[in-house]
Amino acid sequence: TFPKQVKIVEVGPRDGLQNEKKLINAKDKIALIEQLANAGVSYIESGSFVSPKWVPQMATSTEVFEKLNRLSNVTYAALTPNMQGFEAAMAANASEVAIFGAASESFSQKNINCSIDESLERFQPIMTVAKAANIKVRGYVSCVVGCPYEGDIAPDKVAIVAEKLFKMGCYEISLGDTIGVGTAASVEKMIHAVSQRIPLEKLAVHFHDTYGQALTNIYTALQSGIMVVDSAIAGLGGCPYAKGASGNVATEDVVYLLNGLGIETGINLEKLLSAGWFISDKLEKPPVSKVSNAYRAK
Ligand code: HMG
Ligand code: MG
Repeated sequence: TFPKQVKIVEVGPRDGLQNEKKLINAKDKIALIEQLANAGVSYIESGSFVSPKWVPQMATSTEVFEKLNRLSNVTYAALTPNMQGFEAAMAANASEVAIFGAASESFSQKNINCSIDESLERFQPIMTVAKAANIKVRGYVSCVVGCPYEGDIAPDKVAIVAEKLFKMGCYEISLGDTIGVGTAASVEKMIHAVSQRIPLEKLAVHFHDTYGQALTNIYTALQSGIMVVDSAIAGLGGCPYAKGASGNVATEDVVYLLNGLGIETGINLEKLLSAGWFISDKLEKPPVSKVSNAYRAK
């Protein structure tokens, strides 16, 4: 059985853009975020407060958050790797933040320049200050089925890191297949292992579509009882520190799937499609979303 409702976490303005060489200015990022909100997307990861030397595309996040016209029912979240990022996110009035760990040591080193344990130590002060300020913190685990440097990742490894983040106070744990290698079988096993330690309703899935398995993996996750799905408009995305990683599953394709299953998202597909074309035009390439291209060809 499927859930009646699924929450879409739109990561396009962050994950979607962070790997794009062509710099998108703050005005266009804001226009994208506002179009997504107007399409009914209620949770938008709108930027990240990381080192601009590491991820130049995200250097305008402060401006984006400051100048954004906000809808009261929409969460505008920011990715923050450490206290410096958290403070910048708060100064720019992010609605909530996300910390990001990994189930693979090598990826942790490449992505945030520290070990898994060190990353958890860096997250602790964020949790403490966020709690005192009543700011919700989401937690990511990367490389939940495979790592670009270590290959297959054992489900137990994922479960252990996810549980640590959850026990630190993250209200939701997003399970990231960073390089999109998961299949229905490996994803099901991984979710099962994590759900032994964390209630299913506290989990989200975050699939990159490198091997074209993301929609199938989402379907599997829904059948396992997951009710929160991360996706990126136009199928944008990729992590600069995960070699070979391609875009996130396209939000348009996820909404089409969920519409077909009669699952509520609150999102208007036509408005979503037009937001996808808006940013794709800015990037000078068509959306990766098959649904988007099919609608245009009609
Ligand atoms: P570091 O070099 O170890 O940091 O980088 P440091 O504390 O030693 O500081 C070095 C310099 O960075 C200093 O500046 C700091 O001020 C600056 P300098 O004195 O040299 O001029 N710095 C910062 N600047 C701005 N904002 C900050 C910040 N922190 C330090 N928050 C750091 C550590 C984490 C900063 C770095 O490794 C980094 O920024 N990494 C980028 C990571 C990233 O954004 N990756 C992509 C997102 S994760 C992802 O995509 C996966 C996900 O989608 C899930 C999935 O798909 O699996 C979430
Ligand atoms: Mg990602």
